[in-house]
Amino acid sequence: MVKVDLSGAKDFFGTVGPDFSKISDAHRKLFERTGEGAEFTGWLDLPSRVLRTELKQIQSCASKIRSNSQVLVVIGIGGSYLGARAAIELLRSPNYNLIKKDTPDIYFAGNGLSAAALNEIIELIGDRDFSVNVISKSGGTLEPALAFRVFKSLLEKKYGSAAKKRIIATTDANCGVLHDMAVAEGWERFVVPDDVGGRFSVLSAVGLLPMAVAGIDIEQILKTAEAEMHDLGLLSVENPAWMYAGARQHLYAGGITVEILASYEPSFRFMAEWWKQLFGESEGKNGIGIFPAYVEYSADLHSMGQYIQDGPRRLMETVVLFESTGQKLKIPFELGDKDKLNYLAGRDFGDVSKIVAKAVASAHIKGDVPNISITVPEKNEEGFSSLVCFFEMSCALSAYVSGVNPFNQPGVEAYKSNMFRMLSHE
Ligand code: PA5
Repeated sequence: MVKVDLSGAKDFFGTVGPDFSKISDAHRKLFERTGEGAEFTGWLDLPSRVLRTELKQIQSCASKIRSNSQVLVVIGIGGSYLGARAAIELLRSPNYNLIKKDTPDIYFAGNGLSAAALNEIIELIGDRDFSVNVISKSGGTLEPALAFRVFKSLLEKKYGSAAKKRIIATTDANCGVLHDMAVAEGWERFVVPDDVGGRFSVLSAVGLLPMAVAGIDIEQILKTAEAEMHDLGLLSVENPAWMYAGARQHLYAGGITVEILASYEPSFRFMAEWWKQLFGESEGKNGIGIFPAYVEYSADLHSMGQYIQDGPRRLMETVVLFESTGQKLKIPFELGDKDKLNYLAGRDFGDVSKIVAKAVASAHIKGDVPNISITVPEKNEEGFSSLVCFFEMSCALSAYVSGVNPFNQPGVEAYKSNMFRMLSHE
């Protein structure tokens, strides 16, 4: 389980701290399924369901792709994209396609409308064998649907009627254009459960199939998640999701409107993108909501550090730290000490980074930025899984406390209706 430390935030709480009775009410609503959007709370027991049902099919599909393809193109956007990419970057590498490995390269498409990005993927695939995993719960989202046209036609050109063996569709169980095409063409199918919304679907086939292709131990992820969901169900002020959700909402009520998530690991970047969607789309509605932003330290200390230390005081900072990244690198000793850094020689980069993190937190707290610290034991499958469960739970609780439905996104329809009107008329 992750550990939440609020010692850097408590001086900003005022005379009374977070109102845990509100969190407790939200918790009951969530678990008794009596809150708004209760029909989308299937993520609470998703890990156990997948362990019992789809796990073996996902694993065997992944091993088929690993054996017949040098490349997998994963097509999806938002909740149908970010979780898989987050896991692959965090657990394998942000340079996954460049590292030495015995698993296929993975390219993510359908998350935008850039011709350059699509052309580049086509060029990078070259004449290698490839498969496509097209992921869309609704089955009709424009960006992935258009990208799918491109890669489906490439597959058909290359493999003829055998192309259908290289297309895997992850979509609704019963309806939607993608579902209908998959049934008609006989593509292998995985289901995005009806009771799980896109941004809460990473622990379904949506995230798990690409992860398994990348060689990530998805059984371990699911087993950890099953235990985590159980522990996060505890009605207690010690529950880390209560602490985080309670602190965020309390600080927001005091005028802190922006939350910066910070990490010292570049491989965390897409985890943060996933977090941004989770919290932004779940909480930002009815004119309220904390704005979720991300900074990567120490790089951003040299670009955003000034603003964080000294700009308008409406920020809270949530820092995710890994006790162990599984990597060590010693700072070399240099004869003559010309750069005057021998006082650090022999120390590990990870230890230096931990000291820098302490120095940064204390400076930012002094600069009136409340600090929430989240510690994860290891940057591995268990750590990833714990973080996912913790953030999902915290997000649902936090949104219920603020009085919004965490599981809808009515606001995204506004641009979509403009877009479809303009595209069909211009
Ligand atoms: O959280 C959500 O529901 C959305 O962000 C969706 O994941 C995103 O819009 C993609 O939708 P779909 O999977 O239907 O293509």
